[in-house]
Amino acid sequence: MSKITIAIDGFSSTGKSTVAKQIAKYLGYVYVDSGAMYRAVTFFAMQKGLIDNNHFNVEALISRLNEVEISFKFNEALGFAEVYLNGENIEKQIRTLEVSSFVSQVATVSEVRKQLVRQQQKMGQDKGVVMDGRDIGTVVFPDAELKIFMTASAERRAKRRFNELLERGDAVIYDDVLKNVQERDHIDSNRKDSPLLKAEDAIEIDNSNLSLQEQFEKVLQLAKITIEGLK
Ligand code: CDP
Ligand code: CDP
Repeated sequence: MSKITIAIDGFSSTGKSTVAKQIAKYLGYVYVDSGAMYRAVTFFAMQKGLIDNNHFNVEALISRLNEVEISFKFNEALGFAEVYLNGENIEKQIRTLEVSSFVSQVATVSEVRKQLVRQQQKMGQDKGVVMDGRDIGTVVFPDAELKIFMTASAERRAKRRFNELLERGDAVIYDDVLKNVQERDHIDSNRKDSPLLKAEDAIEIDNSNLSLQEQFEKVLQLAKITIEGLK
């Protein structure tokens, strides 16, 4: 059966990674969380003191990008690949609200994007990949056979992310999570390099009122139709 590339873009906390993991598992494809890579670079910058007291030393980060080696390793128990920075598993550390509050600034830096996009394209070169992010259908895989663009109201998304952080045991305030979601939407949509945009040939899904199962079935149906159409 022909393998395709599935690009899932959209705003923060719309359920992109959840559906991407489910689809990859169902089809036996590789799932790549491109956001985790931007989070890993942000974590690196924080670790090295390049982001401190709200000051972000962009030049220093650019000059040290050659020290950033990001990899993914499949975790059988979790059913997806966890992200590693220079050999260290940082899957948990990159999901904090602190990393979320700086990641969109880091993602505006063209040198960072260039390095990560190159790696993402390599990971998807043999197709059979589901990748989620902000620029997958527009920049990373403009020829992807299936492009999905996910949306939902900011309040619904913030509530979902808030619940997720609470479940992890993080002490967060809903208003802070909502503010972060709105700020990232703004920076991601307005940056010069690869802004968050719906590709012309992407199919938009508003999942404000869809359950995880409903959104999975919708995307799976689109994937099956696309694969069928290639035969
Ligand atoms: O999971 P969530 O939607 O909150 O974010 P993420 O997918 O982990 O991405 C974190 C941040 O990385 C986004 O807010 C963007 O600033 C950036 N990003 C990007 O610029 N391009 C991508 N392909 C993926 C993420
Ligand atoms: O990857 P992205 O940031 O777009 O979102 P996610 O991490 O897949 O989903 C964020 C949270 O929203 C997760 O806890 C999902 O279980 C939840 N969610 C939901 O409850 N209903 C949906 N239709 C989509 C996501």
